[in-house]
Amino acid sequence: MNYQFLTSDAAKQKTDLLVVLLHDTKIGSHPLANALNKKLHFDKLLTTEKFEATPLAAKLIPTHGLANAGYVLLVGLGDSKKADLETLRRVGARVYQVGMQVRAKTIITQLMPSPLEKVSATDACQALVEGVELAGYSFNRYFKPKKDVHVIKSLSIAVPAKAKAADLKKAASKAVILSEGTKLARDLVNTPANDMTPLALAAVAKKAKGVRVKVFNKAQIRRLGMELFLSVNYGSSNPPAFIEMHYKPKGKAKKRVCIIGKGITFDSGGLSIKPAKGMETMKDDMAGAAGVIGYMSVIARLNPKVEVYGFVAATDNLVDAHSTKPGDVIKSMNGKTVEILNTDAEGRLTLADALCYAGKKKPDYMVNTATLTGACLVALGDRYSAVLSNDSELTKKLIDSGAYTCEKMWELPLADEYKAELKSPIADLKNIGSGYAGTINGGLFLQEFVDKIKWAHIDIAGPAWTEKPKEYETRGGTGVMVRTWAKFVESL
Ligand code: BES
Ligand code: MN
Ligand code: ZN
Repeated sequence: MNYQFLTSDAAKQKTDLLVVLLHDTKIGSHPLANALNKKLHFDKLLTTEKFEATPLAAKLIPTHGLANAGYVLLVGLGDSKKADLETLRRVGARVYQVGMQVRAKTIITQLMPSPLEKVSATDACQALVEGVELAGYSFNRYFKPKKDVHVIKSLSIAVPAKAKAADLKKAASKAVILSEGTKLARDLVNTPANDMTPLALAAVAKKAKGVRVKVFNKAQIRRLGMELFLSVNYGSSNPPAFIEMHYKPKGKAKKRVCIIGKGITFDSGGLSIKPAKGMETMKDDMAGAAGVIGYMSVIARLNPKVEVYGFVAATDNLVDAHSTKPGDVIKSMNGKTVEILNTDAEGRLTLADALCYAGKKKPDYMVNTATLTGACLVALGDRYSAVLSNDSELTKKLIDSGAYTCEKMWELPLADEYKAELKSPIADLKNIGSGYAGTINGGLFLQEFVDKIKWAHIDIAGPAWTEKPKEYETRGGTGVMVRTWAKFVESL
């Protein structure tokens, strides 16, 4: 879609759909709504229908030629003190959906200096465009191509004459870039494991522009000493891949960061096999990787002044005569041995070696994301990720970034008290705890592979996938973390 900015009177323009954003129903004090009401007389209707301009309340009015627009759409934003960026994303998505429904080619919407009290015009513009772009996502790979798919050509955003159009244009194009990364991540998650193999994931990573990408094969992974990672692959006929992506800004970088995503392309549980129901969505066990690859695929266009490494240890977790057996002891890259008592706690094994490898880059910060534990869904549900970290400043940066993007996080402790649960009678560690505090145990296990680096583990088991999509999502992979990675890196 093409985004433009209008400084002239929106009511005077010819367009298929004109959107009016309202905090309340005082039409008289809203110049655009007032001008339209003079022609269309919808104020009485709003009273009859008890339209209250609550967030996302919408009223579509055909103009029958009585106004310059074909349709007028009134959308509620709710109280200007309460409405936030998330409201605007959802409103953007609603505008897109109505635009598709009335088959609009051109849409105009108005954006006040800021329609929200605490939010800048550029942030508001970015959020609105993110909503529009992400609402345009659908996963069609396995359907026969549809003919006659409607395309909305342009969205013009009416802004006050004194607005800085250049800044708003930048905000809109940033939203387009972030949405592209998010949609790529959604595709990676939604593509089933028969097609999204470790090598397929690596092939997508290799296509990223403006970053250097290395892919290590099984022999190279073995030579690096990542046997813990390889042990997850023992039962598979799909070769593993270790993916390294590297972005270096021009000039001096402010910081160096490593981001690592869990990349289990399918998790059957291994010999500690999952029940059938528990496997149904396990193609999403590479959602951490999808977030990293999605972000690293657009990072050069976002151009942050931070050096960023992205890592993924990709494999599926399957069953055959070579599979890891409960009780097997395997050595990690940093020399620690692990007694693998449950082969379904496989993500931490792959991440352990990836963290060892990433640590060698001596980053200022190291952050991993993973669909690590079902326990995280029990603790925080499907809309909050857990963040566990050895550095409170880093925790705050991540939580703040997630609050901005509405990919919310909540801190759980790396509780010393539970460390003893990971002791094994025959090896340095075992890969499971007692059965309580599963998310914390996962974090404590990973911490064993982090050496004096500011580090955080984000368990995205809930938000990676949705069965109850928001306006700008569809069922399935959400592409969580792409927008949050960008905000986090920007904040350094
Ligand atoms: N990938 C799963 C975690 C998961 C479960 C994510 C459900 C999303 C939805 C992970 O590999 C796993 O199986 N974890 C085990 C750990 C346990 C064996 C300590 C779990 O959560 O049961
Ligand atoms: Mn598992
Ligand atoms: Zn898993």
